[in-house]
Amino acid sequence: MSTTQRPSAARRVLDLLRDPPADPDLSAGYLDLLGPAEERAPSLAQSVMESTFLPRIYEKVWRPVGFNLAKGWPIGPDTAAEQATARDWLGLGRPGDPDRPAATVLDVACGPGNVTRALAEGVGGDGLVVGLDASATMLARAEADTPAGDRACYVRGNAVDLPFRDAAFDAVCCFGALYLFDDPWTALDGMTRVLRPGGRLIILTSRRLTPLHASKVGGELIRRVTGYTVFGDREVTGALADRGFTAVRRRRYPLMQLVGGTRT
Ligand SMILES: C[S@@+](CC[C@H](N)C(=O)[O-])C[C@H]1O[C@@H](n2cnc3c(N)ncnc32)[C@H](O)[C@@H]1O
Repeated sequence: MSTTQRPSAARRVLDLLRDPPADPDLSAGYLDLLGPAEERAPSLAQSVMESTFLPRIYEKVWRPVGFNLAKGWPIGPDTAAEQATARDWLGLGRPGDPDRPAATVLDVACGPGNVTRALAEGVGGDGLVVGLDASATMLARAEADTPAGDRACYVRGNAVDLPFRDAAFDAVCCFGALYLFDDPWTALDGMTRVLRPGGRLIILTSRRLTPLHASKVGGELIRRVTGYTVFGDREVTGALADRGFTAVRRRRYPLMQLVGGTRT
């Protein structure tokens, strides 16, 4: 999908930026705020996300198999149920509902845009869902798979240093990624900052199976070797409460947790 086919969505995102570039790079279809100069030293987990192979199988194979097992398949929610919960907790509408809100939504670490497109089905009018990711290969896939006229657009940026204005969004979603960030709590500070007061946040992330100290030590070892963080049961809800979120709620699955709240 080229920018010429979806120009208004790609350009609208410029209005949401804290520091819009004078000469925005939209050559790949998404707004690239990292460019070649921002090459980082990715963790093992992030290197996998930046490969050219994973984006090809992510949405149809990797995501449903890996995540559904982690959510307790066959008892846990499948992808469709998970997406419906995301729209519901974020205060969005149901697909096809004529009264869907014209919300401005951020999907942090959107990968190939699978959740971004599901959220876009829940917004109406001139609503917009902005998917942000650091991986150029994931975003190329997101652009290719997002139909013209969809209320979605993409930005290449760093989730730990969100490039958006304060209170720019009505809702923020971060699925399957908090555990990959080198500093998840700074990322959470950023998500809080870009949410308007009364805006809603939802996070789907890892969950430590047992609260035992031994598993905490094991979790730290995994983080150092792979860059993958395993969160304790009250760690993420506590972090939301610390940042002044109200109506904090959580659903626990065997190896994942869904956490949400409303910004004060
Ligand atoms: C497992 S995918 C999640 C995709 C989608 N949100 C989902 O739920 O299926 C994780 C994504 O996080 C992205 N990511 C990891 N660290 C990031 C960072 N610091 N900034 C932006 N994206 C990041 C990766 O590039 C990858 O596309």
